[in-house]
Amino acid sequence: MSVLVTGGTGYIGSHTCVDFIEKGQDIVILDNLCNSKIEVLDYIEQITGIRPKFYQCDLLDKEGMKKIFDENDIDTVIHFAGLKAVGESVAKPIEYYKNNITGTLNLIEEMRDHNCFKLVFSSSATVYGKPKSVPIKEDFPLSTTNPYGTTKLYIEQILKDLCVADDRFSVVLLRYFNPIGAHSSGLIGDNPNGIPNNLMPYVTRVAKGVLPHLNVFGNDYETADGTGVRDFIHVLDLAAGHYAALKALSNPGVSIYNLGTGNGVSVLDIINTFERVTGIKIPYQIAPRRPGDIAECFADASKAEFELGWKATRGLDEMCASAWNFESKHS
Ligand code: NAD
Ligand code: UFG
Repeated sequence: MSVLVTGGTGYIGSHTCVDFIEKGQDIVILDNLCNSKIEVLDYIEQITGIRPKFYQCDLLDKEGMKKIFDENDIDTVIHFAGLKAVGESVAKPIEYYKNNITGTLNLIEEMRDHNCFKLVFSSSATVYGKPKSVPIKEDFPLSTTNPYGTTKLYIEQILKDLCVADDRFSVVLLRYFNPIGAHSSGLIGDNPNGIPNNLMPYVTRVAKGVLPHLNVFGNDYETADGTGVRDFIHVLDLAAGHYAALKALSNPGVSIYNLGTGNGVSVLDIINTFERVTGIKIPYQIAPRRPGDIAECFADASKAEFELGWKATRGLDEMCASAWNFESKHS
């Protein structure tokens, strides 16, 4: 039996593919390469010694997806594929709703038609909106502030409705906090096109000299040093959370887990740690708050530890060092 990984050449997907292959799991990758490169397959092969079967296919291409299910014995899907840029989603809501929601509907329809009923979905801490308190537990109220977040919330609801309607389905919703870092080989990592939106790729490009300085979006939040606080998690820990989540697929219905470390880390903490670990100075300027940002967001990750036996183990030093190792080896 194979696991189909949608979005498997992307940032989190590629690390998860490596983890699954190293654990002996046969995988098949589907990706349309709109935000990743075909070379990632070479890198996965270099790291693991195994080249996974790959289909360049769009979630909106029903015929292409049918072919993948027809040609492979797929019993589980890990569903990463989706568009993820918050700002872009505000400018292009139609593209985001179509890609993420219609894409997911196509996928689950194809799964049902091929008797494949186990699904792990990449959700996000963004579904908690502005949380009433931290750490955030899975049963906190849900809301969103942008079309990207709304696609995650709607897809969660669609998958809940699906499990009510059809008890053959088992779904795990994984709500990721802030993945950073890269595989120790430096071959795969976060490589956004253009100017990065997220903090760590921006920091590594400033370190490389590609960007002149970092803008720190606000230093007047009610946090210890005034800058935003997030739950940064090493992408390899996040990847391992998917393997652990397979366990919950033996339960019928929907299971929901936060994947975070449980630690709040500020923007200045990231800058200071990065500078100490790499020896590279990160020039920064305090800039106005970024619209839509919240002061603090970190997980209560105890449910995943208790029920799945999963816990993040890698610290901030390793996250910063591996992110820089990746950036310094890539153009
Ligand atoms: P990514 O962009 O690196 O990977 C997503 C992959 O999906 C890309 O390779 C892209 O080419 C592919 N893709 C997009 N639309 C597709 C389509 N219609 N058909 C086929 N392939 C398609 O992103 P990532 O950071 O690896 O994120 C993976 C998932 O995790 C996404 O669903 C994202 O929303 C979610 N997530 C990411 C973060 C984060 O900070 N990176 C946080 C929370 C949730
Ligand atoms: N930040 C800066 N300067 C930058 C970029 C970010 O100061 O150039 C700050 C932000 O203001 C925030 C923190 O760094 O305080 C983290 O920002 P990111 O953009 O890296 O991450 P977010 O927490 O805003 O959002 C990310 C993803 C979302 C996802 C969320 C939770 O982009 O899609 O994590 O998983 F929903």
